Order: sequence, then structure tokens, then C-alpha cells
Amino acid sequence: MARIISFCNQKGGVGKTTCCANLALFLASKGKNVLCIDFDQQGSLSGCLSNETNSHYDKNDNLITVVDVLKGEKNIADALIHVNDNLDLLPCNDKLMEFKEKALSSASGNFKLRNLIKNNDLRKKYDFILIDTLPSLDITQYNALFASDEVIIPLNLCDFALQGVTTLLMTIESLKEADLNVRINGFLINKYESKRTKDEDIYKEIEEIAKDKGIYLYKNRIRNLSSVARIAHKDISEYVLNEDIINFGDEFLNRV
Ligand SMILES: Nc1ncnc2c1ncn2[C@@H]1O[C@H](COP(=O)(O)OP(=O)(O)OP(=O)(O)O)[C@@H](O)[C@H]1O
Ligand SMILES: [Mg+2]
Repeated sequence: MARIISFCNQKGGVGKTTCCANLALFLASKGKNVLCIDFDQQGSLSGCLSNETNSHYDKNDNLITVVDVLKGEKNIADALIHVNDNLDLLPCNDKLMEFKEKALSSASGNFKLRNLIKNNDLRKKYDFILIDTLPSLDITQYNALFASDEVIIPLNLCDFALQGVTTLLMTIESLKEADLNVRINGFLINKYESKRTKDEDIYKEIEEIAKDKGIYLYKNRIRNLSSVARIAHKDISEYVLNEDIINFGDEFLNRV
């Protein structure tokens, strides 16, 4: 039975996509069956994990995405991209923007992604389902939260690092009344620079919030390294996992 985990933080550029893609590759390298769902219209996760050769297109040459499956116009098998032996991807692109309006107007708007996972029996087919989300707290984010068991919140140690996180935590609390059953898996420090002494003050602030709210703070920080960023630019079959990712991945698995 898959654990379903979303990467959320409405602050842009903190590394939701990068951490999601790297963790997916790490878990796949450990022999776990992993599905990544790109739920961001920017399609960054799809860009990291797929290419034109392994993606699927309709007769008009449009990429078949999670949105076509949500609309019921395509089967999941038509959209799924086989990244490697243990990793599949349900891609996304800007079709999600248009879908947002329609999903909003429907009564079951918050549960579209949850229903997609349920109706396709995806929990039984994978060990982990990782969902990448976009930098905002909108209907797509709610869909990811309602579909997930857990949330990982990547953070950067910069000014305003916690801006938005309190709102996210409050939103999660308030949605619990609407049958939201998600727990925070942890805060993950990404793009860490050991030389910036000011960062330690922000780290202490995060540590306090984590303690206060009972949220796990990953001991392994992911440094700001070109080898981590490279995931966005490299042929994925040639991408080598960085040691920070491996350490974080081990810590993630050891907590299971
Ligand atoms: N640990 C890291 N070291 C170096 N570069 C990184 C690291 N993590 C992310 N990056 C780079 O930072 C940029 C933003 O990362 P990413 O796209 O993963 O953030 P995001 O939170 O998904 O952004 P968005 O909010 O737009 O979806 C990218 O260029 C990525 O390559
Ligand atoms: Mg992203």
C-alpha cells in the first residue's frame, strides 16, 4: 500500500520539485515502486524526469497529462511515463490552469486527485506516490493535500523562510474539519550554505516552530550544490544521486 506524500510550500523556488524528483529517484534506486505526480502547471517535475522520447502525445501532438485523466478523456495508462524500472510519472503542463476553473466550480473539486488515485487503484500498485505542487495555496494545492497522507515542506534558510509556512500549517488545520487527514512528515532544509552564519539564526527559528508544533525537522540538510540542481538539466538515466540526497533519503526511510 503506497504512502502518498506531497511536497508543499507556497513560497516559490525552495526546491519542492528538486527534492521530490531526487527522493523519487532515491526510492526507486532502493527497489521501491514509485509514482511521481506532477501537479504544477509549470511542468517542472515532468521536465526533470521525462523527455520527448518517453512521453505520450495525442493525435494533435499534445502531451497527455494528469489533467486528461482527471477529465476522464484518457486512461491513466495513456498518460503514464515510464522513467525507469521502478519509477513512473504522471506528467503535467499548463492544461492544469484551465482545469482549475472547472474543478473549482464543481462540488467535489477538492477530491479530484484523491479520486483519480482511488479509481485507478494506485495505492496497490506503488510503494510511494510523490506529488509535486505549485507555489500557491489554491484548489490544486488542496487537491494534493486531500490526496496525501503526508506533506514534506522544503525550506530555504533565507529571510522570510517561514513566510507562508504558518499559513500552510493553519490551512491544513482548518481543512481537517473538511475531512483532511494529512500529517506533516517534516521540514526539509534545502539549498543550505554552511558559510552563511546568519542562516543559523533562521535555522533556530525553524527549529523552535518545529518543536512547538511537533513537526519533525530533518537532520540531513541538502546543500546548495550544482550536482543537486543538475537533475533539471541532465538525461535522467545518467543522473547520479548526490550524497546529501542519499543521506536525506536514508533518514526518510529509517523513519518509516
Ligand atoms: N539543493 C540545491 N542546490 C542547488 N540548486 C538547487 C537545489 N534545490 C533546488 N535548486 C535549484 O533552485 C531552483 C528552484 O528549485 P525548484 O524548481 O525545485 O523549486 P520549487 O520550489 O519547485 O519552485 P516552484 O515554486 O517554482 O515550483 C531550480 O533552479 C533548482 O535547480
Ligand atoms: Mg516546482
